[in-house]
Amino acid sequence: MEFQNILIDVKDGLATIIINRPKQLNALNKATIKDLNKGLLTLKEDNNVRCIILTGSGEKAFVAGADIKEFAHFGIEEGKKLAQIGQEKLFNLIETFPKPVIAAINGFALGGGLELAMSCHFRVASENAKMGLPEVSLGVIPGYGGTQRLPQLIGKGKAMELITTAKMINAEEALQYHLVNYVVSIEDLLLTCKKIATATLNNSPKAITAAINAVNAGFDNSINGFDKEIEEFGNCFGNDEFKEGTSAFMEKRKPNY
Ligand code: CAA
Repeated sequence: MEFQNILIDVKDGLATIIINRPKQLNALNKATIKDLNKGLLTLKEDNNVRCIILTGSGEKAFVAGADIKEFAHFGIEEGKKLAQIGQEKLFNLIETFPKPVIAAINGFALGGGLELAMSCHFRVASENAKMGLPEVSLGVIPGYGGTQRLPQLIGKGKAMELITTAKMINAEEALQYHLVNYVVSIEDLLLTCKKIATATLNNSPKAITAAINAVNAGFDNSINGFDKEIEEFGNCFGNDEFKEGTSAFMEKRKPNY
C-alpha cells in the first residue's frame, strides 16, 4: 500500500500504522486523514490483520493536532465540515473499528492528536509524551470528538479543567487520570503495544468485534448497552468461532481461530 503521509507495516497478524509528517509534528492535514481512512478501510477487509497499532514517526510527536495552517482561513461552514468529515472518516471509523486499535503515544498528542488517540480502543504512552486539548488557546474548541471522549475517559470535572485551561499534562498524570493504560520508555513503547496486541491474537476475532460493539453501545445515548450486549452475546452462538472455542475447551486444547 502506497500513501503520501502514512506508512503501514503488516506482520504476524498485526498492522502498525505510522503517521509520517515528522517535520510538521505529524499534524493531521486533509491528505493525512484521507490516507488514514483509506489505510484503515483496507486493513478492515484484510483477514490477515487482527489488531492495529497507531503511532507517529520520530520521537517528538504522536500528532500535534489538526493542521492549523490548513484551517486558519476557514469560515463557519468550512469549520463545521472540517469537524464533521474528520469525525466520520477517521475518528468514528477508529472507535467502531472491528479489530482492536491501540494508540502508541510517542510524544506530543495535542488537540486532534489526543482526539485521535482517544478514538483508539486504548492507549499506551512513552515517558516523554505530553497530552492536552489546547484548542481554546487558538479560539476554537476540540472538533474531532474531544469534548465527548475526554469526559468519557477521565470524568467531566477533570476534562472541563483540561479543556478550559488548555493545559498540557505529562504521561504520569495521564496514567493517573486513566487516560492511558501504561507508561513505558520510548524504546519499549512499540514492543509493549505489540505484546498487548499479541495477547489479543489468541482470541476469537468475531467475539472481539462483538465485545467492541457492546462496550461502545454503552457510550451511545441512542442505544441501550445491555440490550446490545444481549444481542451480541446471542449472535456469538451462531458463529464457527464459538463452536471452535467451546470445543477446544472441552477437548483440552488451544482454540484455532
Ligand atoms: N498544525 C500545523 N503545523 C504544526 C502543528 C499543527 N497543529 N504543530 C506543529 N506544527 C509545525 C510547526 O508549525 C513547525 O513547522 P515549521 O517548521 O514549518 O514552522 C513544526 O511543526 C515544528 O513545530 P514547532 O517549531 O512549533 O515545535 P516546538 O518544539 O517549538 O513546539 C509544540 C512543539 C508545542 C507541539 C507546538 O508545535 C505547538 O503548540 N503545536 C500546535 C499544538 C496545537 O495547538 N494543536 C491543536 C491544533 S487545533 C485542533 O486540533 C483542532 C481540532 O480539534 C479539530
